[in-house]
Amino acid sequence: MFQILRKQEMAKGTIIRFEINAPKIAKKVQAGQFVIVRINDTGERIPLTVADKDEFSGTITLIFQVVGKTTALMRSLKQGDLIKDIAGPLGQPAHVSNIGTVVMVGGGTGVAILHHVAKAFKEAGNYVIGILGARDRDMLILEEEMTAICDELVITTDDGSYGDRGFVTDSLKKYLGERSDIKMVYAIGPIVMMKFVSKLTEKYKVPTMVSLNPVMIDGTGMCGGCRVTVDNKVKFCCVDGPDFDGHKVDYEELEKRNSLYLKDEKASLLFSIR
Ligand SMILES: Cc1cc2nc3c(=O)[nH]c(=O)nc-3n(C[C@H](O)[C@H](O)[C@H](O)COP(=O)(O)OP(=O)(O)OC[C@H]3O[C@@H](n4cnc5c(N)ncnc54)[C@H](O)[C@@H]3O)c2cc1C
Ligand code: FES
Repeated sequence: MFQILRKQEMAKGTIIRFEINAPKIAKKVQAGQFVIVRINDTGERIPLTVADKDEFSGTITLIFQVVGKTTALMRSLKQGDLIKDIAGPLGQPAHVSNIGTVVMVGGGTGVAILHHVAKAFKEAGNYVIGILGARDRDMLILEEEMTAICDELVITTDDGSYGDRGFVTDSLKKYLGERSDIKMVYAIGPIVMMKFVSKLTEKYKVPTMVSLNPVMIDGTGMCGGCRVTVDNKVKFCCVDGPDFDGHKVDYEELEKRNSLYLKDEKASLLFSIR
């Protein structure tokens, strides 16, 4: 059992942050890795990235967007409540080294996942430029935390209610045009965002990593549920990823596979709130 020590609602209650007592995971987990959470005996297993950890207090931070049945049930949990299982850390850690100037691009809840990776790149001695995108001001998360990590930070909102009006790709294009010292771009967010960031950086020949989010079941490479195609080869995101070379991912296949269960997921949510 894992106790929720702190709960915070963000983005008008659509994104929730839990600080959870999990000393063994906090000791081992590295940036980019995830856990599989099951909130009770009958609950489904869902993957969530560890957004931060504190080895000394033995805690991990999970930040999740409420999108369906399990995340809605998780939102109903309170500080002090217990979560049945948290398995991990799983997946490969992000490849972090001192390479110079890196641009961290995060969209929506992807900023939560990006945060841990950006922190690791900063701690490794890199010059970190952050570009965070959100639909509007209310949906922007972790601005304060990313400001503390990044040497430069740009905010974009689709409607212009905060920061620059437009998409993250508009700001990234500006940076790529103006600076020749960018060694890598890390992009984490909706599939469509990662696809367009990768298309853009390919033109500028800047290596790009993305974090993929296919449907996962066991998280250990056994079920094949998280199959993705990268560089025309089959990869299992839970053991080979979740981070991959953004220029080699088959995004169309990922989008198609992720929408396979939409009808069942909607029905499951409706059933759970009746
Ligand atoms: C490696 C990895 C890390 C992730 N990290 C985060 C994170 O830090 N924060 C966050 O908000 N979300 C994260 N996700 C997505 C998160 O797992 C889904 O939002 C969650 O499973 C939705 O469950 P649900 O029952 O609430 O929604 P459902 O109604 O069941 O599904 C809504 C949508 O969520 C996705 N989804 C559903 N079940 C799964 C599953 N078992 N595995 C993966 N995706 C699923 C599908 O795209 C689906 O259309 C991550 C996904 C992966 C693969
Ligand atoms: S989740 Fe089963 S193989 Fe990856």
